[in-house]
Amino acid sequence: MNKIALYCRPGFEKECAAEITDKAGQKEIYGFARVKDNSGYVLFECYQHEDADRLIREIPFRELIFARQMLVVGELLRDLSPEDRISPIVGMLHGVIERAGELRVEVPDTNESKELLKFCRKFTVPLRNAMRQEKILQIKENTSRPVIHVFFIAPGCCYVGYSYSNNNSPFYMGIPRLKFPSDAPSRSTLKLEEAFHVFIPYDEWEERLASGLYAVDLGACPGGWTYQLVKRSMMVHAVDNGPMSQSLMDTGQVRHHKIDGFKFQPSVKNIYWLVCDMVEKPAKVTQLMADWLVNGWCREAIFNLKLPMKKRYEEVAHNLQKMNLQLKENGINAQIQAKHLYHDREEITVHVRRIWSAYANSRNND
Ligand SMILES: C[S@@+](CC[C@H](N)C(=O)[O-])C[C@H]1O[C@@H](n2cnc3c(N)ncnc32)[C@H](O)[C@@H]1O
Repeated sequence: MNKIALYCRPGFEKECAAEITDKAGQKEIYGFARVKDNSGYVLFECYQHEDADRLIREIPFRELIFARQMLVVGELLRDLSPEDRISPIVGMLHGVIERAGELRVEVPDTNESKELLKFCRKFTVPLRNAMRQEKILQIKENTSRPVIHVFFIAPGCCYVGYSYSNNNSPFYMGIPRLKFPSDAPSRSTLKLEEAFHVFIPYDEWEERLASGLYAVDLGACPGGWTYQLVKRSMMVHAVDNGPMSQSLMDTGQVRHHKIDGFKFQPSVKNIYWLVCDMVEKPAKVTQLMADWLVNGWCREAIFNLKLPMKKRYEEVAHNLQKMNLQLKENGINAQIQAKHLYHDREEITVHVRRIWSAYANSRNND
């Protein structure tokens, strides 16, 4: 198997391809990306056979912005016979993978694939049984073993491959399934919820999304993001000139500051989270976030960056590199992660966690 498949939002194949080509090049792995507009996936074909496996081991999945999933795949299986689709699929995996922990039968995230998805759900059961009999798949699901992916791009037509559970998306089709809470004031509440699922490991939620933490929400109205923080029993400074949802104000956990988010400065040193959904120039938002982190006004930040019309990957990578550099120059050790989330359209979501500051006397809350 010498190809990797990357799932992405339809319409963002070029960005996904630019990113994987860049990251593979940094590892001196060469190949070429095959892109079909609006297909919802990209294939990167390596010149060297064993390089595909190396790529999915060595490129940290968490560092990819546009890819929702990353897996090694073999040649496309075409014209699978409705009488026996299973044998050719299982045949692709013999000698490639043993005792995988999970099977996911998936499709690209496109409208055309919706019908196919129904078939995938039904097909999973007999395919799983066959794989278990052949010892390709363990009897019990095991989240620390590789995942087998069967990726149908059309009826009777699929890629078969695998990903590593320590370097992939844990979600089916790379998309966390979230339900819109009916009492939330806006649909964008799901963006922040998805960001928590993607950026914060579940075993750290109790500490990093703990009740009683203080948060600032810049560009908060009507309150979809604040809702997520309030739901976790946090205390929120909501900054926006617009109207905040009354039900959120009634909780007593929200203080509304009707001022410019670029001018707001916290008067207290207890802010853990900064979240920001102001629609502004990406460079301006990135600079504001860097200022907050350098000043030690928050420990973690989640914010949206609007994507430019052209060279979207290059622009975003440039903004993030600039931020990283600025933090380093100020002695701040931080983890920066960015993702084009399922609920993002023409923007990406960035998460920055301040680990420590080299300067003991910095104005921080370390
Ligand atoms: C996309 S909406 C935020 C939606 C919100 N996150 C939610 O989930 O309900 C953007 C908000 O940013 C606010 N905004 C834009 N520029 C701002 C600024 N300079 N200062 C404060 N708020 C700003 C707008 O008033 C608007 O309410």
